[in-house]
This record gives sequence, C-alpha cells and structure tokens, in this order.
Amino acid sequence: MLAEVLEGLHIAPGKVFLDGTLGFGGHAEAILKAADATVKLIGLDRDANALASAKQRLTSYGERIMYFHTSFQHFDEAIEQTQLGQVDGMLLDLGVSSPQLDKSERGFSFRQAGPLDMRMDQSLSTTAADIVNTYPENELADILYQLGDERLSRRYARAIVEARQQQLITTTEQLENIIWKATPSRSRHGRLHPATRSFQALRIHVNQELTELDNFLSKFLSFLKPGGRIAIISYHSLEDRRVKQCFRQAKQHKQLELISKKPLVPTEEEINSNPRARSAKLRIAIRSTPSEESL
Ligand SMILES: C[S@@+](CC[C@H](N)C(=O)[O-])C[C@H]1O[C@@H](n2cnc3c(N)ncnc32)[C@H](O)[C@@H]1O
Repeated sequence: MLAEVLEGLHIAPGKVFLDGTLGFGGHAEAILKAADATVKLIGLDRDANALASAKQRLTSYGERIMYFHTSFQHFDEAIEQTQLGQVDGMLLDLGVSSPQLDKSERGFSFRQAGPLDMRMDQSLSTTAADIVNTYPENELADILYQLGDERLSRRYARAIVEARQQQLITTTEQLENIIWKATPSRSRHGRLHPATRSFQALRIHVNQELTELDNFLSKFLSFLKPGGRIAIISYHSLEDRRVKQCFRQAKQHKQLELISKKPLVPTEEEINSNPRARSAKLRIAIRSTPSEESL
C-alpha cells in the first residue's frame, strides 16, 4: 500500500516525517523520493540489523535522514534530539519484515530452522526460548490464546511443559514439532500451519508489541503539527483495534479527522505479489487545527 501511504501523508517540500518502523527503508526511500531535497525524515527501528541495512540503502540521502536505534514508543525523545519540533507526518508499518522472518538465526519463523529467539531488539534479555522453558503452563496458554487467538492453547501449553521436562526447547524446529504432535490429525492440514498462531503470540509477547503501540498512541498527537498526518499499517486485529479506538476517540475530541471510516486494504494484485500483505490494514488521520479543536 505504498501509493496510499504516500498520498495519505501528503509529501511536499519542506516537510519533516517520522518513520517509526524504518525496516529496510522501502517506505522511507519512497517518501524522500516523492518531493525535493528539502524533505527530511527521522527514522527509527529497534532492530540494529534493519537500521544498518536502511542506512546502506539510503546513503545517497545523506543528512536528510536522522537515524535512531530505538523503539517507536520513545519517538518523542528522538524528535527532541533532532530539535525539529512537531513533524508533518508519521508512519508506522508494524510487525516484522520479510528479511527478519527469512533469517533463520533470528528465530521468528517455524519455516526456518534456528534458535528460538524472536527478539527484534537483540539487546532485550528475554527470548522466546526463555518464555517456553520457564513460564507456568497457564501463563503460556494465556499468551497463546490472547495474542494468537489459538483455540488449542491449553493443549499446546501442556505439550510444551511436558516436552521441556525431557529437554530444554531451544530451536524453532523443536517447538514446531511439539505443536505439530499436539495437534489432532484432523486439524493438521488447515489453511494455516498449526504453529502459526503460537509463533505469532510468542513474538508479540517477546517484543511487547501491544504495549509499545499503546505507548506510542498515548502521546503521538502533541508531536504532530496541526494539519499533519499519521498513517499506521497493522497486520492483526489486536493492533488494528487499538489504532481504530485511538483514532475514533481523538475524532470525538475533535483532535483528528479520519481519512476514511474503514481501513484501506491491499488489492488482490498486491496480495498476489506479496502474500504477507494479506492481513494489512492502513488507517490514516489528519490532526485538526486549533480552531477545529476548540469547536
Ligand atoms: C514491516 S517492517 C517495516 C518495513 C518498512 N516500512 C520498509 O518499507 O522497509 C517493520 C519494522 O519495524 C520494526 N519495529 C517493530 N516494532 C518496532 C518498535 N516498537 N519500535 C521500532 N521499530 C519496530 C521491525 O524491527 C521492522 O524492521
């Protein structure tokens, strides 16, 4: 949904944008290309590898980009460091990137054999392996149910606890295998692999993704200029619900105008060329001007 993001953010000369999820710099590059050399970008990512790749990709933009290795929940500190004041546009493209998923040593995917890690920021102390090897069974089940919508959560939590009594669970393959064996054979060949939801739930928990989003949403408004725009792409309903509720509440308080009531979704063509975009939802809003806010 690159075109929709660019249109939604109203890129124009002299504007300053915050990209809170720089990733490998795809959106950032498009933003910088879309106007003249007076556009600046503050780019954040909590993954040092992603940030290094973005820097490499974007070297030709020189000092027009200011990079920060930090979580977007600390975006306010980054903006303050740049001394650029309020920004004209903000973008969050949530979740993990394809290069993160595809790197086996990051341990995000059961399709890649690797250590059960899943930390986006590798300076965090708790990995997915720490969680599956130490959390009580009921807590594990709650994580799988609440963050993965996994209806077999209790069964999987039990299987994990039984398996770890025999041997520590340290790899993606081990966990995938435990889940596969605990899945009734009639449920093994559905649209999703049986381990999909559990891996998603663990990733969200390891990276505290919902708390980080809540922290961002609680304070972004005062860092956005009146008339400034915010675009957020989310990939699962727990994220989208938070964005929707926050935008709706800000609209009720006349602080935001919504571009559309319903989120924008990718076209069939986009989904065919990038199947991971299937669940994407884009919400865009505009900060009201002070006169609108006081109405
Ligand atoms: C879907 S990718 C973004 C891709 C990017 N828009 C592009 O065009 O290349 C998500 C990125 O956000 C980063 N990320 C996720 N949560 C974050 C957070 N709370 N703070 C900062 N970065 C985060 C991930 O490390 C990942 O690199």
